[in-house]
Amino acid sequence: MITTALDNAYRRYAAKRPISEQLHARARTFLPSGTTRSVLDFDPYPFTVASAAGCRLTDVDGLEYLDYLGDYSVGLAGHNPAAVREALAAVLEKGWSFGAVAAEEAEVARMLCERFESMDLVRFTSSGTEANLVAISLALKAADRSKVLVFDGGYHGGFLSFSRGRPSLNVPFDAVICDYNDLDSVREAFAQWPEQIGCVLLEPMLGSGGRIQADAGFLEGIRTLCDENGSVLVFDEVQTSRMSYGGGQALLGVRPDLTTLGKYIGGGLGFGVVGGAEKLMLQIARGGERSYDHSGTFNNNRFSMAASSAMLGTVLTRSSLDALFERGEDLRKRADHVLREHGFQATGWGSLMGFHPTDTPIRRASDLAGLDRRPVELLFHEMLERGVYTGKSGFATLSLPQTPETDDHFLTALEESVRVVAKAGF
Ligand SMILES: Cc1ncc(COP(=O)(O)O)c(C=O)c1O
Repeated sequence: MITTALDNAYRRYAAKRPISEQLHARARTFLPSGTTRSVLDFDPYPFTVASAAGCRLTDVDGLEYLDYLGDYSVGLAGHNPAAVREALAAVLEKGWSFGAVAAEEAEVARMLCERFESMDLVRFTSSGTEANLVAISLALKAADRSKVLVFDGGYHGGFLSFSRGRPSLNVPFDAVICDYNDLDSVREAFAQWPEQIGCVLLEPMLGSGGRIQADAGFLEGIRTLCDENGSVLVFDEVQTSRMSYGGGQALLGVRPDLTTLGKYIGGGLGFGVVGGAEKLMLQIARGGERSYDHSGTFNNNRFSMAASSAMLGTVLTRSSLDALFERGEDLRKRADHVLREHGFQATGWGSLMGFHPTDTPIRRASDLAGLDRRPVELLFHEMLERGVYTGKSGFATLSLPQTPETDDHFLTALEESVRVVAKAGF
């Protein structure tokens, strides 16, 4: 019955989006499956956006969507925020791609080091993936070891994706995969490879792997194991840094050696950061004892630097981040209440939320591994039908332009949608 309901949903979707269908058919001629970002591909075909403002998207067929995907957490400030627009306009006036230093990069670095207690120094990259590649490389070089300990379901970029049993295009780091929230599995790995594990890389909340919060004591336990074994602790805060002014780490009270950032801080432009302890970061200082080059044509691209300067300087204030966190906690509880009546549940932390078709506790990626995801896909389509855009695999992300009224719209759509899914035989 779920399959029939999905087929009907595809038909209903296609009937309303003929222009998107044509554009997608043309795109398929030149792009594998018509897209250049796998996560945006869904059945029967993705709609094509014509414009966006605040927390709303309009597609080429004239349909409007309330945006609760927030570009998978990039869109914290919503679409076209004035502060970023003005910063970009100033760059257009003065020029870009100097092949030389501009003042903004040091200013952005200063603002980040001021916010993140664990950051003595930072370097910029073009993406979160690249930031993680640099972080792992710095950690392994410093420890003079070869293995990276990661977690099942951990997503650190297109080339650093660690879901057991799923094919990947990963770079060939020697990865040891443990289970999230299972400190014993980490202890066992260290017992087996005490001299080889050079770093532990993890998200303070398993993000793309299901938006699963870390249990109390899990991150502290990992901190201790890293210290006992001479291993570098890397927090990937590409998603979770939005939890407070000083990131997820400030809320949790655990200090990593290196941290990576990206997404929303760049205001919607390509952006990544690796930052942390001076001793580790100085490996890429010129003339140091161990002096590695770390280059990248776009590391200081002026648009990203200007956008992140505006974001850090005016948008991402302590009070706006605290309010977003509180609103997220509240909305997730309300969503969870609505979903549980129909055998679903909501997971997440602060302004990041996941929906799952099960009511049993979810603490690690394997708790989700065997689940039929079709109910989530149907939920996604039913939300779209009600004008609300979320992630195809059951993600919702809050942004600043949303209001109590849009939250109510989101919740009503969720309630109606999950009822349809339940009726379809879930
Ligand atoms: C936690 C986390 N790390 C890293 C990345 C990769 O960032 P980017 O897509 O900018 O390369 C992502 C992207 O979704 C992410 O969620």
